[in-house]
Amino acid sequence: MADHTQTNLITLSRHVLAEQRAHKDATGDLTLLLVSIQLGCKFVATCVRKAGIVNLTGLAGDTNVQGEDQKKLDVLANEIFINSLRSSGKVAIMVSEEDEDVIIVSAKDRDPAGHAYAVVFDPLDGSSNIEAGVSIGTIFGIYKVAPGSTGTAKDVLRAGRDMVCAGYCMYGSSTSLVLSTGNGSVSGYTLDTTIGEFILTHPNIRIPARGKIYSINEGNSVYWDSACTEYFSSLKTRTVDGKPAPYSARYVGSMVADVHRTILYGGIFAYPADKKSAHGKLRVLYECFPMAFLVENAGGRATTGTQRILDMVPMAIHQRSPIFLGSRDDVADLEACYAKHA
Ligand code: AHG
Ligand code: MN
Ligand code: MN
Ligand code: MN
Repeated sequence: MADHTQTNLITLSRHVLAEQRAHKDATGDLTLLLVSIQLGCKFVATCVRKAGIVNLTGLAGDTNVQGEDQKKLDVLANEIFINSLRSSGKVAIMVSEEDEDVIIVSAKDRDPAGHAYAVVFDPLDGSSNIEAGVSIGTIFGIYKVAPGSTGTAKDVLRAGRDMVCAGYCMYGSSTSLVLSTGNGSVSGYTLDTTIGEFILTHPNIRIPARGKIYSINEGNSVYWDSACTEYFSSLKTRTVDGKPAPYSARYVGSMVADVHRTILYGGIFAYPADKKSAHGKLRVLYECFPMAFLVENAGGRATTGTQRILDMVPMAIHQRSPIFLGSRDDVADLEACYAKHA
């Protein structure tokens, strides 16, 4: 008997369209926008896979607004996404980690009818890992823009809870795209390179209520505050029935890879504020918000330590924030630690 799933492939576009049909006011605009985002991810995936062969590794020679030395793939991925988003006709404004200012899409590049969106994105996350062939990714978040807006910073300096969609694509052993359009639903898709489609492989992802893994850069522990120090040492010294039962430590150094593992296996990922990084390192709009949106819709929590990430309203497009995210019970324990040290 043929395995019928092989003749009834659920592609990302088909799956999102079906989910959108469940919304009475769906117009198909978001689905069209996601087609452009998928194209960007597929294109970047091919560039990442051949980077070492076609001299696409290494530095581009410029620094970005973050003060980071841009990698060639940072710049290439950025241009790929700006072009694919602009070509969708559904984008009014963009924010990229690699561009100092917002990118306004001119009226000639926008469909006059239908919804327009603001897209915030990190075109290549984990750039320090490119040359080592370690998993890297792309992160994006989407706001619906108020009708008639010509695209201003006002359309993006909004609470994360206003996002209508968020996702990431991880360029790892396979190319995995994880996406949520809210409503407590998170789905995972794997790129089938033979047909160039993202196929539904992880329907309805739920993060375990508690995990056994913590993920943080321990090299910064000398800079941590007392709450962070107390919490993470409690994970190392914990016992069960009087016997040591420490959590395992896993840290890739690419947010996409560390968050993907946390969502699938459970546990806690953290990039805290500390004496070295007063506001933390990760950027609110295109790293913290999209990952918090996904984790919450998968049943987890995401906090600054004292505030829900998605309730924050950024004052600047590259603003940074401390972030702790993951399993509901693990993050609740972390928050209790911060409450105790308040
Ligand atoms: P990006 O490559 O987009 O600048 O992001 C890098 C971030 C994130 O991917 C990761 O979690 C973090 O940097 C790792 O920072 P450390 O090397 O300081 O631990
Ligand atoms: Mn960077
Ligand atoms: Mn990043
Ligand atoms: Mn980046």
